[in-house]
Amino acid sequence: MDQSCLLLLYLLLSLQNCLSVPISRFYSFAGSSGDQTFTNVDDQATFINLSHDFIFYGYNFSTVFINNNGLLSFHQAVNGYTSDSFPLPQTLIAPFWADVDTRNGAGTVYYRETTASAIVSKVAQDVQLAFPGQPSFTAKSIVIVTWYQVGYYEENNDK
Ligand SMILES: *[C@@H]1O[C@H](CO)[C@@H](O)[C@H](O)[C@H]1NC(C)=O
Ligand SMILES: *[C@@H]1O[C@H](CO)[C@@H](O)[C@H](O)[C@H]1NC(C)=O
Repeated sequence: MDQSCLLLLYLLLSLQNCLSVPISRFYSFAGSSGDQTFTNVDDQATFINLSHDFIFYGYNFSTVFINNNGLLSFHQAVNGYTSDSFPLPQTLIAPFWADVDTRNGAGTVYYRETTASAIVSKVAQDVQLAFPGQPSFTAKSIVIVTWYQVGYYEENNDK
């Protein structure tokens, strides 16, 4: 990864009763974090106009689509609900590809872009720890997306 990369997409996910990382270790979300919310949808997407281009596989992207089904995509929204194997024709990052359904208030997808220095430097530190080959990695902007206690098709919220 190019260490001058302008943007790191930091992906957080949560599924009730299926936590791989304790909530206490998540980057801040909801509450006073400034998150926007995306809720009460099935197979839909919203997007963020990024403050800095995200360079990914040779393209400079200025928009990221946040797909309810646990995907971040770049050229367009992707409404697929079945996790297909890579490689795929779409340009995407798949932190949590599942048949998410937040209708009926079944969970919330929180998202924001931030340049808050405490978060930017914490993410840089985490990347440096996880990728020892990138000791001077820095970021300018972070996108945080949290799929929090989301339900699944069709309008279920019991997991
Ligand atoms: C993103 O930018 C486009 C044009 O540059 C604008 O029309 C649109 O309202 C913006 N959307 C958001 C969600 O910021
Ligand atoms: C993409 O961004 C990089 C870094 O800012 C720049 O050097 C490059 O020319 C850009 N490429 C395109 C196709 O805009």
